[in-house]
Amino acid sequence: MASRREITLIPGDGIGPEVTAAARAIVDASGAAFDWDVQPAGLAAQASGLPALGPAVFESIGRTGLALKGPTGTPFGTPYRIEVGAHRMNPKPEPRVYPSVAIALRKEFDLYMNLRPIRSFPAVPSRYQDVDLLIFRENSEDLYLGRERMVDDDTAEAIKTITRGATTRAAKFACETMVRLGRKKLAVAHKSNVLKLTDGLFLRAAMDVAAQYPQIEARDRVIDALCMELVLAPDRYDCLLLANLYGDIVSDLGAGLVGGLGMAPGANIGEQCAIFEAVHGTAPDIAGRDLANPMAMILSATMLLKHVGELEAAARIERALTSVLERRDRVTGDLGGGPGGGTQAMTQAIIEAM
Ligand code: NAD
Ligand code: IPM
Ligand code: MN
Repeated sequence: MASRREITLIPGDGIGPEVTAAARAIVDASGAAFDWDVQPAGLAAQASGLPALGPAVFESIGRTGLALKGPTGTPFGTPYRIEVGAHRMNPKPEPRVYPSVAIALRKEFDLYMNLRPIRSFPAVPSRYQDVDLLIFRENSEDLYLGRERMVDDDTAEAIKTITRGATTRAAKFACETMVRLGRKKLAVAHKSNVLKLTDGLFLRAAMDVAAQYPQIEARDRVIDALCMELVLAPDRYDCLLLANLYGDIVSDLGAGLVGGLGMAPGANIGEQCAIFEAVHGTAPDIAGRDLANPMAMILSATMLLKHVGELEAAARIERALTSVLERRDRVTGDLGGGPGGGTQAMTQAIIEAM
């Protein structure tokens, strides 16, 4: 029998506890043997008197190297600071400050790649039926470093940082993954007509890497036109490489192509750790009402299973999910489910189908 593996589980905020409970129950029923170390983080942790992102979370992920994370809430517009001190994976004593829990985890564990597959499922109502995009989002720099300030009462500025090193690392990951998966077409997104230095460097560095892979056909697309083409004819695209902020925005656009945010899973990957989380946020408008589509989190969990080599368990879950989607009676409303459907009914149906 395969040995048990320890994994960190961050339930998160809003719909996070509902969708991570679904994913956990399904993974447990899949035959993969995991011991879950549950670590609160985010607004819910703060409400119970804990830090939003405390040392216990770093200790846990530093030990397990693997986490399934629910979305964590970040207040819009108002100041919010996540302060992080020394921990096992980053012993720097000077405190670091981040604008959100998700960003702090990505930076502190050096999870430099955010991999977000966007795939249509025939049984799910959506605008397109033949979407199969792989989004490679650089996850460590760009406008995400929190370097923002008020110059005076009426002027604010933010600094966008692009380095050849981070871009090259992300592009190499993308190309290596494409070769492994047999995927051929890569579009590198940029706005180098305006951001000549930052996006210009991103484009040059990414194209330099792609040129070393003769089996990959790489081309550049300016980000605004790319968005239009994705909405018009998403089947013309295969893999996309984007800087951090464009990757964030195009991920949600991609989710919209295949039925909504309930459909898009993701992985934050580094050399030593990986944290798997859906593209969607805490969805406060539907939280606690058994309405959340757990698919994005379940598919994030199957990405995790594949990452650790549990291919059988991942395939079992995907087969069960597909059959439950086809029957439709117990799925959530956004998937076409009726009164018998919901987060919990769908979870139970997937477990029974396995
Ligand atoms: P959101 O993704 O939470 O919600 C946008 C819309 O999509 C809402 O109408 C919501 O009901 C719907 N939706 C999202 N997930 C769904 C699901 N699984 N099933 C059905 N419908 C779903 O975006 P938001 O409202 O802009 O953000 C809410 C909070 O989440 C913010 O604080 C934001 O910072 C945070 N957030 C966190 C993460 C993360 O931790 N990884 C990711 C994105 C957003
Ligand atoms: C995402 C989210 C995060 C991001 C926020 C919550 C910091 O939108 O994971 O897509 O912008 O990366
Ligand atoms: Mn986002």
